[in-house]
This record gives sequence, structure tokens and C-alpha cells, in this order.
Amino acid sequence: MASCKLTDNIYSVGTLNPNMRIFDVIMTTEFGTSYNSYIVKGSEKTALIEVCHLDFFDRYIENIREVCDPAEIDYIILNHCEPDHSGALARLLPLCPNAQIYVSQAGSIYLKNITNCSSLPVTVAKDGSSIDLGGRVLKFIPAPFLHWPDSMFTWSESDGVLFSCDFLGSHYCEPYTLDTRVTYPSCYKSAVKVYYDAIFGPFKPYVVAGLRKLDGLDIKMACTSHGPVLTSGCMLEYVLDRYAEWSCPVENGKISIPIFFCSAYGNTGLIAQEIRNGILETIPDAECEIYDINEHPMSELQYKLNTSSAFAVGSPTINGDAVAPVWNLLSHVDAINNKKKPVLVFGSYGWSGEAIPNLTVRLTGLKMTVYSDAVKVQFVPSEADFENARATGKSFAGQLR
Ligand code: FEO
Repeated sequence: MASCKLTDNIYSVGTLNPNMRIFDVIMTTEFGTSYNSYIVKGSEKTALIEVCHLDFFDRYIENIREVCDPAEIDYIILNHCEPDHSGALARLLPLCPNAQIYVSQAGSIYLKNITNCSSLPVTVAKDGSSIDLGGRVLKFIPAPFLHWPDSMFTWSESDGVLFSCDFLGSHYCEPYTLDTRVTYPSCYKSAVKVYYDAIFGPFKPYVVAGLRKLDGLDIKMACTSHGPVLTSGCMLEYVLDRYAEWSCPVENGKISIPIFFCSAYGNTGLIAQEIRNGILETIPDAECEIYDINEHPMSELQYKLNTSSAFAVGSPTINGDAVAPVWNLLSHVDAINNKKKPVLVFGSYGWSGEAIPNLTVRLTGLKMTVYSDAVKVQFVPSEADFENARATGKSFAGQLR
């Protein structure tokens, strides 16, 4: 992607990464991504907003040079310092000897460790402060936890242009910059949802707070840091509405206590049934479905776990540990929003039953509230084991009423 003029004296100079299929280790990116960056010129000063991934520096600097000599850049604004936006900063800075960097307070600390440079020319962008480019003012709006503590928006009132960084973005890559040129809107919309779930799903209250900060702004264009630039009348309203919809708490009035398990010979599955019976004795209208982890898509299990009131998880012990699918499920826990969530651990074992203590350590490390009475059964559950599983399910549910 070459540079491109978006509106009067605002240019896109970012780069495309169409081949990326995994972002941040955990997120699949079926449609690649882009590292968006913008140059905003006033009559007196020039600002560069966001930098880019280090691997794409050569293409990036070519794009900048199509718009201006890097030495003419007066301000580098980093709305967020994750290395996909700041990785190339250390290489860029020697070419921009006059540039002052504007970041949030948190960002100013991160940048030192990202660039390993203690003498960066940094100014902390305070809430509501602004810089005047000459005929064009850029205002800083803190947006903490969208999605890092350092995140902020930059707003150009006279243009109606919001620089939102990751917020409202998507890992989606087509050759053109504007949403009006998106060739496959249904693919784009699915990318928006995947991106929202992975990046902003853990921060829904902050999304609501961020959207509130945008109330009253007459936004004509949102220059995100990934995916198409959003314009009013095309995708901007769609994305804003979806963010509002997806961030609303789901309330159906029911307590949900899903039970997840793997079972080698069916015994851990039998315990799951009895725990469920006990839970339903205490809360008859609870949503208490049992999920064999190997039989359901991980996305479904992840959703059920992350939106539950509490849950139970069971594993047999094989080779001195819980089994891999159970660990995989726990690697999909939203650790931020599941803090203190009650969880009951159970499982059948043959020799020594390490699955239960190992899962307990892991869940405690995720800051969940692990029920003190795990259900641990050697080999095949007896009638007494079933009674114990039912009673434990009953008492576990009792704490939720
Ligand atoms: Fe696109 Fe949070 O980095």
C-alpha cells in the first residue's frame, strides 16, 4: 500500500500485512492486517500519528517520504505503544530530529522499555490537552484499557477525524484504505467481530466508557490503527453500533454453571452428571449444561465459560497431570473478567490424581475462587462417590444463591 490522501492534508502512510494469520500469539487473523499510520499537516506543523511494526519499516518510510521529508515531522503521536505501533520508532527517530513524541503517562513509561532509550523527547499528553498545527488542532482524549492502560484517542475537531488506534479497528487487509472500497463486506464484518472479541471483549466496561467519550463528537472519519479507515455513512456507524451492542451485559436472569470435562474411560463424565444433579437440586432453573471438551468448538466453550456465573471443570489424570484439552480450555479464560469466579474441580484418577491439585493451582493463579471440596474419585465411582459428587454440586451451587 502506498500513501494515500484521506482528506485535506491528512494522509494514510501505513503498511499492509496480508499474510499474517496469527496476531499476538493467540488471535487468528484470517484476513491479514494493516499497520495504519497517518500524517496530519497544519499550516505550521506536521504530525505523524502511530508508527508501525518494525518488520515493515522499509515500506513505511517510503510511504512517509511520499508525503513529506521525515525531518519535517514536528510531532509523533502514539495513541498506544504496543510494538505493532511503536516497534519502528527507534529506527524512525534518527530521521526525525525535530520530532517531539506525545503519549499518555503510561505510554511514556512503556516507550522507554520498548525503545531501550532513556532520553526520548517525550511529552505526556494530558487529558484534554492539545497541539496546534496551524489551522488544525489535535486534542488528546484518554481511553484507558482500550485496550492497554496507555490507550488514548486523538481528535481533530475541525476535520471531524478521530484517530482511535486499536479501538474500532479490525485485522482485515484489502489493498485500499477506505471502507468504501472494501470488496468483501461480510468478511470485513466477521473480522470486526473476531477482533472485538479477542481485543476488547475483556474490557467491555471500558468500551462503554470509551464510547461515552465519543458522544457529542461529530465524527466523519475514524482513522483506526488496523483495517479500513471508517467513514460516516459507510462502516463507521455499523462498527460503533456493534461495539455498543457487544459491550452490553447479557442478563437473562438465570444463573449459568456450565460443566466442562474430558474423560478417558467415562468415569469423569459420570461425576459430571452427578455434580449437575446436585447443582440443580439447589438451583432448579440454573443453566447447567455439560460439555465434553473434545466434542465442542473451543470458541463455544470459551464463550460459555467467560459468560458463566460459575463453572466446574473435570479431568482424568494421565501421566501425572490433567489432560491437554482441559489445559487448552483454561488457556482461553478471560483472566480479567473472571477474577473471583467460583469454580469446582473434579476428576477420576487411577494412581495418584495430580490433575486436581494441578488444576487448582492454575485456577488459583487466574485469581478464581476454587471451591475447597474438589470431587476426586479413584477409578470407577461407587455409590458413595456419586452421593459425594451430588452433595458437593449442591453445596457449590448453594454459595451462588
Ligand atoms: Fe494494535 Fe494493541 O496493538
